[in-house]
Amino acid sequence: MAPISDTANVLARHDLPGILAAINAEVRERFGEGRVADYIPMLGSVPVDRFGMALVALDGQVHCVGDAREPFSVQSVSKVHSLTLALEVAGAELWDRVGREPSGVPFNSLVQLEFEGGVPRNPLINSGALVVADVILSHYQRPREALLEFMRARSGNASVGVDREVFASEKQTGYRNTALVNFIRSFGNIHNDIDAVLDFYYAQCSLEMDCLDLARSVLFLADEGHCPVSGVGVTRPDRAKRINAVMLTCGTYDAAGDFAFHVGLPAKSGVGGGIVAVVPKVMSLCVWSPGLDTKGNSLLGGYALHRFTEMTGLSIF
Ligand code: DON
Repeated sequence: MAPISDTANVLARHDLPGILAAINAEVRERFGEGRVADYIPMLGSVPVDRFGMALVALDGQVHCVGDAREPFSVQSVSKVHSLTLALEVAGAELWDRVGREPSGVPFNSLVQLEFEGGVPRNPLINSGALVVADVILSHYQRPREALLEFMRARSGNASVGVDREVFASEKQTGYRNTALVNFIRSFGNIHNDIDAVLDFYYAQCSLEMDCLDLARSVLFLADEGHCPVSGVGVTRPDRAKRINAVMLTCGTYDAAGDFAFHVGLPAKSGVGGGIVAVVPKVMSLCVWSPGLDTKGNSLLGGYALHRFTEMTGLSIF
């Protein structure tokens, strides 16, 4: 594969609308594979026969296919955005409270915390995101508004908001998250009120966005921390590099190795069926299909990204 050097040259080589149309057709043949995340009751009723894909390039190209404009629950994709916000206020000290190693266990597992003194393996699994939420609560006066403003500015969509029904559904049934936050607190690694931490976390997971919104929202990670959508510097280049690194190694839970093998891009998935991916210095992408594989990643979304990198040769490797 050619090294990613010059955005315009790289993009000129590909018929991107044609590639997206071909992937869309392939994926639709496979509708029905995967299982929706019914452990969150409100997500259990999302139809499985949906597929959308959006691509936003640094040269200004935007391409969408399928259900790319249908809003869905972003779930853990928002862990990238909350990590970015937390790094801005806590800097490198964040890494004293959360690690940056792949966990190799399911995203909502409790087991490692006991052996590792309440320090979650990474910020992109539930335990890590709860610590990140705690950091945000300690540093922002209006944390939920800060996150919402961040999402709206990064996506360029001022109407991004929380789906109240999903929020309530998660809050009612989030037994594991309640266990995780209490357990971490017992080690002194949660400083704020438990319910406040959980409420912030459920609000970020319950955000409703579509593929285009989400692809735009991570474009700053393709542009060394600069957000072309809002025209501002979001984070320092070295932090953007680190966020991409953590996405590559930890963004798809205990399937991150397999994902790097098949796709080869920094990515973050959520149990709503969305996956964002970054081609550094070139573009950001988002795919969505609600049927999940056994690890909790969108089955057809992962397949679509695999086909995209296969057809274009765009990968960090
Ligand atoms: O807390 C949960 O289980 C969901 N709100 C989010 C899970 C998800 O998308 C994958 N987690 N890293």
